[in-house]
Amino acid sequence: CRVVVLISGNGSNLQALMDDCQKPQSPAQIVAVLANRRDAGGLERARVAGIANEWVDHSAFAERETFENALRGRIDNHSPDLLVLAGFMRVLTADFVRHYQGRLLNIHPSLLPAYKGLHTHQRVLEAGDSEHGCSVHFVSEALDGGPLIAQAKVPVEAGDTAEVLAARVLRQEHRIYPQVVRWFAEGRLKLDGQQVLLDGEVL
Ligand code: GRF
Repeated sequence: CRVVVLISGNGSNLQALMDDCQKPQSPAQIVAVLANRRDAGGLERARVAGIANEWVDHSAFAERETFENALRGRIDNHSPDLLVLAGFMRVLTADFVRHYQGRLLNIHPSLLPAYKGLHTHQRVLEAGDSEHGCSVHFVSEALDGGPLIAQAKVPVEAGDTAEVLAARVLRQEHRIYPQVVRWFAEGRLKLDGQQVLLDGEVL
């Protein structure tokens, strides 16, 4: 299964995915990493791992559509079976999402459908929630709104700062994202309309 990963930042999820894909008998192969910023730390991680890495600077494009067309061209050069968003911080248009329908995954640092959007850890602390976590989902046209595949929960502890809580959530992200990519690469995970099927069973 040929996987292309899109990033904007540090790329710790990318690292977890690369580490898992390097294991013997991994069904997935990361063939390229693309960023929308040249200074995305994850590009260096890809370089170190010997994986093709490129950037398409979104700020060089006046329109979202023209940026996405350029990005799509670069992605499709690598003929991916699966496109994985790992801390990719640009909102994608419906056209882009439709093009990769059923083979486009995202990870979000909240227990969706709660806390879509940004600053999830801070918002969870402000709300006084006792539980938080992360979600992996197929991407649909609604922001952070696509069909859920997997979630992991963490407790919110007394005295947590947003940074401490984010780190606790990230450890779970690094566990569930490689697992979901494996399921997909093994042909066990499918999107059927709005339904997610794992081994033929509706999740
Ligand atoms: C993660 O929390 C991810 O869920 C969110 O952005 C963060 C990216 O972290 N979308 P990293 O770049 O993978 O370290």
